Amino acid sequence: MPDKEVQAVNPSTISVLHTVPDIRAHRRAVPGKVALVPTMGALHEGHLQHIRNCKKIADHVIVSIFVNPTQFNDSDDFKKYPRTLEADVAKCASAGADAVFAPDADEMYPPTMLNAAEIDVPKVTSILEGADRPGHFQGVCRVVVKLLNIVQPDIVSFGRKDYQQLCVVQSVADDLMMPVQIVHVPTIREPDGLAMSSRNARLDEADRKRAVGLFKALSAAKNLIEQDGETDPEAVEQAMVSVMRSHQFEVGYAVVRHPVSLGELSCIEPKLTGGVIALLAGSLGGVRLIDNMLIGAHEG
Ligand code: PAJ
Repeated sequence: MPDKEVQAVNPSTISVLHTVPDIRAHRRAVPGKVALVPTMGALHEGHLQHIRNCKKIADHVIVSIFVNPTQFNDSDDFKKYPRTLEADVAKCASAGADAVFAPDADEMYPPTMLNAAEIDVPKVTSILEGADRPGHFQGVCRVVVKLLNIVQPDIVSFGRKDYQQLCVVQSVADDLMMPVQIVHVPTIREPDGLAMSSRNARLDEADRKRAVGLFKALSAAKNLIEQDGETDPEAVEQAMVSVMRSHQFEVGYAVVRHPVSLGELSCIEPKLTGGVIALLAGSLGGVRLIDNMLIGAHEG
């Protein structure tokens, strides 16, 4: 949606709360089903899709906007993360959100507390993104559990864009029997196929054109498996790497895995596993991008 239209919406129709007691009081006062959309701000169309989807299945939608320091293993990345609260609040209002929870770091990690609780699912957090970004998922787990305990929503929305994050959060919620329903939103893409991400703005013009290589690599994997009947994961992984390299990507990983455990497959058999998930990470000019595609299953 163009910014002009976003600014035409009056953000005063939405409540913006900054403290834990205030958001708790707000949540207690609203009747019906409450949905939470956790974000780090710099909102784009992909984020807004979560709000619109939640609006259909819940009575009240709260968006959290918090650039969570504990999930950044690179302090420079944390400092450079865009902070655009005013524009984000306007976008939330235009998409139909009812409230925004935008705490500061001291509110979420009070200096008076030990701040030493650890939540982890090592089986899922130690591989792929977790291996490339040590501590990242532990930080995500901590902040997501905090947000769920603070807001106590009936529903929480996560994107398939961050597929491994979804698996991690789902495992934590299941294992700890958290009383919340997790809903998924499919990846929203630019017209050329690039998955929307706040990091895309950091790509220069030439790299932005090359970035479509991720979607092309995933599409090549899909064709190989679904059209050509390829069953060897290594053959598919090599094909993805070669498409990424032909677009000048520095490859982090390009793998085909089980869609729930993210475990390695000796043979690709979508009928047995309920599809497979192709996951990639790569860098262009120092900007790290990730993407994924469910293959041999309906994304529905
Ligand atoms: P953030 O990157 O802001 O993403 C917030 C939510 O939007 C996540 O569930 C993410 O998967 C989803 N999302 C991002 N890009 C998307 C796209 N193109 N299409 C659909 N959904 C998309 O992910 C985080 O923040 C943080 O790790 C968080 C969960 C908020 C914890 O700090």
